[in-house]
Amino acid sequence: MATTRPFVEFKLERLLSAHENEVEINLSESGVHPLTMRGLLAMKGGDLGADLAAIAATELNYPQANGDLELREAIARWYPGATAANVLVTVGAIQANFTSLLTVTAPGDAIAVMQPNYQQFWGLAQNLERTMSTFSLKPHRDWALDLDELQDAVAPETSFVAVVNPNNPTGRIMRADERAAVVAAAERTGAWLLADEVYAGAERVTDEFTQTFYGQYEKVLAIGSTSKAYGLPGLRIGWVVGPADVVARMWAWQDYITICTTCLGNKLAAVALSPAVRPRILERTRGYVRRGFDNVARWAAGRDDVEVLPPDAAAICFVRYAAAINSTEFVMRLLREKSAFVAPGDLFGLDGHLRVSFGLPDEYVREGLARIGELLDDIG
Ligand SMILES: Cc1ncc(COP(=O)(O)O)c(C=O)c1O
Repeated sequence: MATTRPFVEFKLERLLSAHENEVEINLSESGVHPLTMRGLLAMKGGDLGADLAAIAATELNYPQANGDLELREAIARWYPGATAANVLVTVGAIQANFTSLLTVTAPGDAIAVMQPNYQQFWGLAQNLERTMSTFSLKPHRDWALDLDELQDAVAPETSFVAVVNPNNPTGRIMRADERAAVVAAAERTGAWLLADEVYAGAERVTDEFTQTFYGQYEKVLAIGSTSKAYGLPGLRIGWVVGPADVVARMWAWQDYITICTTCLGNKLAAVALSPAVRPRILERTRGYVRRGFDNVARWAAGRDDVEVLPPDAAAICFVRYAAAINSTEFVMRLLREKSAFVAPGDLFGLDGHLRVSFGLPDEYVREGLARIGELLDDIG
């Protein structure tokens, strides 16, 4: 008789969905304070009234199923050598990741995944019967990539290597030698290299957009999204940029999954990625990231029971705490006792940490940090 494996839930996403809309202070998300539609259109710098009227008059039809040409061209512009044929527009980066795995691997395949990490591939590997090995960013070495683990994790049979750069939850950007090592490891076995780059553009320490892996090796799938660096998670627009034939095969899967994204999402994302608007959005995002982390740094400097390595990018950091309590237990108490919310480290594969989001208005962030501090004091 066939046995059915128990379904592995995406615990992080489920936890966030359960509580993020009911808590007073929510520092669990990983993007910056979202833009409004008016705010986005105002960044075009033209006649706002006319632009709003044009959006209001949009027929709510299906868009082009693989993404409107205007949007695919707007995305391709930011990837060296890419054209619209290299782009598939998806329902968020989450679907781009899912459809990538589905398209280029098969049950029984070996995949290698960076840790700590947004745990999408960890769960998918189990639910879709891929075997998974991991390689880590080291907490005691400033989140440097462990190159020996990388060599071991990417075995001759490995067909898929996944990295998140800049990283969630640590906000670290890979150094040039680490990037080269990842590409070399994938090349050595001919594996697909999936680079989830949704936090590129949200840099804290530089104004330089984090370099994409696209173009570094012919089997790269580069994943992006409007959710994080662009402050537009509600558009639910993500994308994959890769070889045209593979992108076409991914579209064939998408026909079964979602058909397409939404027409308003396509139109507004094309505005966000246009050469005139994109730099304005990124400036806003980096402003939130920089001011926000200053609040965390001041808070952490005033306590001897927490430690945080300043993130290179993204509106999140991974705070290590000294208290002897499991991180999910801590977060559940924070919810119940302080009506505040952060993401627990164990759901990223590393307990003893909290992922704290800070790309929000100053007062809100400070209040959330104060409540975390109160609970740490209560625990003693
Ligand atoms: C690394 C990473 N990839 C993908 C996603 C999903 O993003 P999207 O909203 O574009 O689906 C997230 C969301 O937190 C993420 O952190």
